[in-house]
Amino acid sequence: MPGTAGARRSTRTRPPLKAATHPCHISARVHSLRSVRPSPSASRAPTPREPSRGTAGPTGSVLDVLSPRGPRFAHVVFADVALRARPVDHVPRHEPAPPRTEPARLAVDAWEFIDWLFRRAGLDAAVYRWDTLARRLPSCLRALGSETYDEARRLVERHPRLLDTALETLVVGVTGFFRDSFVFAVLADRVLPALADAGRGLNVWSVGCSDGRELYSVAMLLDEHDLLERSYLVGTDCRSAAVAQARAGLFDEDALADVPAETAARYFERVASGWRVARPLRDAMRWWVGDALRLPEIGAWDVILCRNLAIYLYPDAADRLWRRLAGALRVGGFLVTGKAERPRHADGLVNVAPCTYRRARRW
Ligand SMILES: C[S@@+](CC[C@H](N)C(=O)[O-])C[C@H]1O[C@@H](n2cnc3c(N)ncnc32)[C@H](O)[C@@H]1O
Repeated sequence: MPGTAGARRSTRTRPPLKAATHPCHISARVHSLRSVRPSPSASRAPTPREPSRGTAGPTGSVLDVLSPRGPRFAHVVFADVALRARPVDHVPRHEPAPPRTEPARLAVDAWEFIDWLFRRAGLDAAVYRWDTLARRLPSCLRALGSETYDEARRLVERHPRLLDTALETLVVGVTGFFRDSFVFAVLADRVLPALADAGRGLNVWSVGCSDGRELYSVAMLLDEHDLLERSYLVGTDCRSAAVAQARAGLFDEDALADVPAETAARYFERVASGWRVARPLRDAMRWWVGDALRLPEIGAWDVILCRNLAIYLYPDAADRLWRRLAGALRVGGFLVTGKAERPRHADGLVNVAPCTYRRARRW
């Protein structure tokens, strides 16, 4: 796919972005940040409690997960389990069943609501860490202005655009231009120079791109390295509203807070509703809505950024994602992760810098 797009792009003309003197604003900025290193604890992968998936069916369906024997609800006492555990002949017929405990009822309601939401968005909620989802549920209800899951569900059914509002609170869309600037220093100083030696444009994929700030930041670096024009950049995310915003390239003043003034002046234009990314950058991008865990195998990428998505997944799903991304890289290509993420079991990846892995061989 990158190949065909490259052919398409070669026919495109775009105005040059660079000033004659090429002041290299971004490199100057990332140089000053080069001493910033992630703390050792930041580079350690989180070790969430991984439930045994042995009891989940192959589809990871809601029924599998909701089973009282299911791993997600090990901490919950289900009323029917409590009843079964009690020897039947010790229960007088007239004794009322013990009330279903409030926490158990809430957990089931919450899970059913989340599972329903995610299915509507084409996602599998069972791969996301339950503790994070549960923690974020109140914000989800608040964002929808609902007090109950039933009311929230009815609202989303009536106004499908609210699906994205709900989803954003649960899967977390936080992002930023040049977020974790040391990562961009590594990209500018090590990754792009290494890849530029090939003398061709680069194929770059931002997985879980949110509203596009990450990929636009990379595009600015590519332009600094004279690589943008020949490169093919793709951003994908599961939230269609985020992808629509990325495609529009429209941001408010706050979003530009971390962009140096010269860079902002060079790559953004003032419009009535805020700031718009310059057209040559927007033209170099393709944006798609899709589930990172189900996207078809596509390659061969020079750089894949998958940052701050896998931390929200159970380790087995994260492993699956890392393996697929590693397989979609060209030999010699780079995978860039979030600060708290470390691909496990992705054979052939060599850690070459903080948050940066290089595919060393074919497998
Ligand atoms: C915390 S943001 C990170 C954005 C950007 N990569 C960064 O680090 O600044 C995580 C993004 O991953 C997206 N996401 C979560 N699960 C996804 C999935 N299964 N497929 C595609 N995108 C997903 C979310 O919608 C969100 O935009």
